[in-house]
Amino acid sequence: MATSRGPEVVFTTNKHLVRWVEKMAELTQPASIHWVDGSQQEYDSLCAQLVEQGTFTRLNPDLWPGCFYARSDPRDVARVEERTFICSLSRDAAGPTNNWEDPFQMRRKLKELFRGCMRGRTMYVLPFCMGPLDSPAAQIGVELTDSAYVVVNMRIMARIGLPVFKEIDKDTKRVVPCLHSVGMPLAPGQQDVPWPCNDTKYIVHFPETREIWSYGSGYGGNALLGKKCFALRIASNMARDQGWMAEHMLILGVESPEGEKTYIAAAFPSACGKTNLAMLIPPQGFDGWKVWTVGDDIAWIRPDGNGQLRAINPEAGFFGVAPGTSAKTNPNAMAALARNTIFTNVALTPDGGVWWEGMTDAPPAECLDWKGQVWTPEIAVRSGAPAAHPNGRFTAPAAQCPSIDPAWEDPQGVPLGAIVFGGRRSDTMPLVYQAFNWSAGVYMGATMASETTAAAVGAVGKLRRDPMAMLPFCGYHMGDYFRHWIKMQRLLTVTPRLFHVNWFRKDAAGRFIWPGFSENMRILKWIVDRVHGRAQGKETPIGWTPYYQDIHWTGLKMPRERFEELQTVDCMQWRKEVIRHEELFIDLHDHLPPELIYQRELLICRL
Ligand code: OXD
Ligand code: MN
Repeated sequence: MATSRGPEVVFTTNKHLVRWVEKMAELTQPASIHWVDGSQQEYDSLCAQLVEQGTFTRLNPDLWPGCFYARSDPRDVARVEERTFICSLSRDAAGPTNNWEDPFQMRRKLKELFRGCMRGRTMYVLPFCMGPLDSPAAQIGVELTDSAYVVVNMRIMARIGLPVFKEIDKDTKRVVPCLHSVGMPLAPGQQDVPWPCNDTKYIVHFPETREIWSYGSGYGGNALLGKKCFALRIASNMARDQGWMAEHMLILGVESPEGEKTYIAAAFPSACGKTNLAMLIPPQGFDGWKVWTVGDDIAWIRPDGNGQLRAINPEAGFFGVAPGTSAKTNPNAMAALARNTIFTNVALTPDGGVWWEGMTDAPPAECLDWKGQVWTPEIAVRSGAPAAHPNGRFTAPAAQCPSIDPAWEDPQGVPLGAIVFGGRRSDTMPLVYQAFNWSAGVYMGATMASETTAAAVGAVGKLRRDPMAMLPFCGYHMGDYFRHWIKMQRLLTVTPRLFHVNWFRKDAAGRFIWPGFSENMRILKWIVDRVHGRAQGKETPIGWTPYYQDIHWTGLKMPRERFEELQTVDCMQWRKEVIRHEELFIDLHDHLPPELIYQRELLICRL
C-alpha cells in the first residue's frame, strides 16, 4: 500500500523500515527521499536525469538500443579490499584474512562520516531481493543510497521495487539494512560532478546484526550492495548459521544430445573467465551439446529434502568485465549486452558506440578512452594506455542472454552434480583433476591460488592464495569457513564430485598451452562423464586425471605430448606447492578443521 509522507510516497506498511529510513535520513540529511518502485518509467526517468547531470551518455539507439555509458572518477575504478571491513564482535570471528575493527568504534566513526553526507542529494530507498522472489532461498535487503547510478544498476542486477516491498510487508523474512553514500554532500548551489565519490572509503559489514554500511565509492561491488557485500559477505554468515553455502561461483548446465542435463557450479577468482565459462558455446565436434547459463558470479547452495545440493543464482544480471569479451570469446555475453545495458569505464566511439580491448580485431581509428581523452592506436603505442580500463564493466540483464537456462529462476534451484575450482596458474596445476573425495576436494578448494587481476585495486599478476575464490568475500574466519564446508557433507546423501581446472598453464616459451574458451567444453564433458561414472580416471598423487583417450578430441588437434604437458603433475613442483599451503594454514591454524591437516599429510605422503 502506498501512503503519503509529505512529498514522499512510501510503499510499505512496515513500521521498522519506515522508522529506520527516518533515522538514517536524520543522520545523512538528504534534500529529498525517493521510495523506489522499480518500474520501467522510473528507470527511464532516472537514466534521463543521469544523462542531464553528465554521468550517463545515451548510446546511439540504432547501434546500442536502450544502452548508457558512464565514466567513473579515475580514483574509483574497482573494489577496495584494503578498505573493506568485517566488524564482528570479536576480531577472532573475522579471522586473519579480513580487516577488522571494533564494531562499536566503527559505528561511531561511520556515524561521523555519514552525518550530513547526503546534503543536497536524494536518498533512494531501494528494496531488493536476492534470488527469485518466490524462492524460499531468496533474501531481502533495503539499500539507502544517494546514487541514482546505483539504483539503475541495481534494477538490472537484482529484483527491486514494489514486489519486494510487498514481501517486506508480509514480514516473513529478515531484511538486511544497507546504507550507501558516495560521500560527497552538495552545498546550496554547488555544481555536482559526473561521478561523485570520496577519497575516504569504507565498505563495512556487521555480521551479527547483518548490516552493511558503504561510504565513498560509487563503483561495482563497493556500491551495488546486493552483490559482494550481501550475497557473499553477509550471506556467508547466514549460510554458516543456517546450513547452506554462499559461494563465489558460476552455475551452468551441460545438456547432452540425449537430453541429459548436469549442473555444475564453479569457483574462480574475479576476472578469471567465470562469465565466459558460464556462457560457453560448444566447439566443433560437439553437435547436439548445449551449455545453459544459470549464473556467472554467485551461487547460493543448499541441500534439499533428499540430501541433494541445489543452487540458485541470487542475481538477475551480469556485472561482467568488458575487456576481452568479444563475438569470438563470448557471443552469448555480446548478445546479452547488445541492448538495455550500462557500460562503465570502457571507450566511447565517435558513432555513439562502445569499444574495449579485445572486442574486435582492429581497434577504432579514434575514440574517447575511459578517462574521456582522445585515444588512437598510435597514441596507445606511444603511451601504452588502454582505451578501456581493464576493470571496465557491462551491467546487462541475465534474461537477455541467449543461453539462459529455462530453469534459471526455478525457486528450488538446480541440482548440482559437480563443483569445480579454478585459478590462473602459469605452472604446477594440471588442466583438470578430480579430488579423491569430499575432504580432499575441500582441501583442493581451500588451497586454491591465482595470479591477481585488475578486478581489485593492487598489483596484477601476483600469485595469491584465494580459498574457494572467497578470500575477498568470506564474511567470517576462513578456518571456520573450511569447517563449514567439511560439515556440509553430513547433510548430503548425494555428494557432488569436486574438480580443479587451470586453463592458464604456460609452456617453457611462456605461451598458453590450452586454447581455452569454447574448447573448455572438452573438459566439462569429462567432468560430466565422471559425475555419471562413465569416464576413466588415472590416479595421480593429487587426484584423478583424464587419460588422453578419455577426452573428446573431435574438432581439435591436440597432440598427445602437448596434452601430457598440460596434465603433468611434477612432484618437485608440487612439494614446493604444498610447502606454500603452509603459509595460509599457519595463519588459520587455530580454526582449521582437522580433516584439512590430515589431507595435507596424506598429500605429502603421496608426493
Ligand atoms: C566481480 C568481482 O565483480 O569478483 O564479480 O570482482
Ligand atoms: Mn565476482
